Amino acid sequence: MSGLDDIAVTIRLNGEPRNLLAPADRRLIDCLRDDLALVGAKKGCAVGRCGACTVLLDGEPANACLLMLWQLDARDVVTPEGLDADEDAVILREALAAENAFQCGYCAPGFVMALLALLRRDPLASDADIRAGLEGNICRCTGYHSIIRGARRAAEALHAARADPTGESA
Ligand code: FES
Ligand code: FES
Repeated sequence: MSGLDDIAVTIRLNGEPRNLLAPADRRLIDCLRDDLALVGAKKGCAVGRCGACTVLLDGEPANACLLMLWQLDARDVVTPEGLDADEDAVILREALAAENAFQCGYCAPGFVMALLALLRRDPLASDADIRAGLEGNICRCTGYHSIIRGARRAAEALHAARADPTGESA
């Protein structure tokens, strides 16, 4: 249990302002899962090594298990739940599913977060770029080949969607 006093912070969470009141060192992953019932981000190692807890912080992937409440005032946080209406994320999830990228799926939300940020930053990412961009995400089931195939498929689908946003040439 934290010995620190509660602090109040306001974050933008999945597009909506949210007021949080908790000890200054409460971890974002615990705020999300235990206080707000947002369980899309998973808790794995809890020490920043597995990427299961990845969220987007101001648009960049970050480990929610390493973020404390005192760091979050006025920051923009997107969790896996916040991607449900995101067109790029829909394409990405479909591509991963088409390649049967995951087995148990526990790591999947973190991979989706990391991949979405990567492919937005670099739509022409090579397989080497994708592997480098996913170094912070661990999967215990798949051996990664199917994830990389899904990521490649997603990169191509996102590129096609941007080149032809109407889909009329398909
Ligand atoms: S639970 Fe956060 S990196 Fe593993
Ligand atoms: S599919 Fe099981 S941990 Fe990745």
